[in-house]
Amino acid sequence: MVRDLESKVALVTGAGSGIGRASAIALAAAGAKVLVTDIDQQSGAETVTEIQAARGEAAFFEADVTDAQAVEDMVRKAVDTWGRLDCAHNNAGIAEFRVRTADLTEEVWDRTIDINLKGVWLCMKYEILYMKEHGGGAIVNTASVVGLAGVRQQPAYVASKHGIVGLTKAAALEYAQDDIRVNAVCPGPIRTPALDWYMREFPDVGKRLEEDNPSGRVGESEEVARAVVWLCSDRSSYITGHSVAIDGGVLAK
Ligand SMILES: NC(=O)c1ccc[n+]([C@@H]2O[C@H](COP(=O)([O-])OP(=O)(O)OC[C@H]3O[C@@H](n4cnc5c(N)ncnc54)[C@H](O)[C@@H]3O)[C@@H](O)[C@H]2O)c1
Repeated sequence: MVRDLESKVALVTGAGSGIGRASAIALAAAGAKVLVTDIDQQSGAETVTEIQAARGEAAFFEADVTDAQAVEDMVRKAVDTWGRLDCAHNNAGIAEFRVRTADLTEEVWDRTIDINLKGVWLCMKYEILYMKEHGGGAIVNTASVVGLAGVRQQPAYVASKHGIVGLTKAAALEYAQDDIRVNAVCPGPIRTPALDWYMREFPDVGKRLEEDNPSGRVGESEEVARAVVWLCSDRSSYITGHSVAIDGGVLAK
């Protein structure tokens, strides 16, 4: 890994598992000091241990992204620990499965929008408030291919991910002149604990995810993480407001 992020400080939400864990590890391998944050203390601590075992620098902070005070504290923790915040990967998210729009409960709608969309907005709010006063930074939000195209039976998830793509564009326009770049990654099916559960629970759909993918396979978390590192680095210095599909070609169909 090229150390493009040497002397930078990054934070990652939902970094106890899957894509967030891979991103935290990749950011650290690229030289960043990483605040690993998650609602789950144990899995977050495991990510920190993995980074430290590879001689990277990381610390854990427990934060629920729906809690404004916790999110504000999370940003302060990164700054208090390492004196700055340069990069943020707002990644924590959940999904509902196999429920059509009219059958969705208000509870599932509220929870999905709260974590996926409000959570990303809250993180951006406090990251931007800091970065604006301290020379800028790079923010990457995890959306999804279903933030760029519709899919059946995940109405709240699809709405939340489209919302993230829109929010990414809005903030990119607002803060481009403050040297804050805001982009999104839009993963297709990526092998993570969340996807493993889904493929076990609904083997028929799981099989289709592989067969229907132009690349004939699901992706790996590291393939998303590499894009996150690139979007956080100066190598993507003129890219902002963009949503990058990392999907094996699904959206090209
Ligand atoms: N895996 C895929 O196929 C795929 C595809 C497209 C998009 N995504 C998106 O990628 C992101 C990560 O997904 P994953 O597959 O790695 O999932 P995952 O379930 O493996 O990891 C999600 C992490 O987020 C944490 N989390 C959940 N709610 C939280 C909250 N309120 N506050 C803080 N942390 C919280 C969990 O504890 C967990 O560690 C999500 O936003 C998901 O929508 C995943």
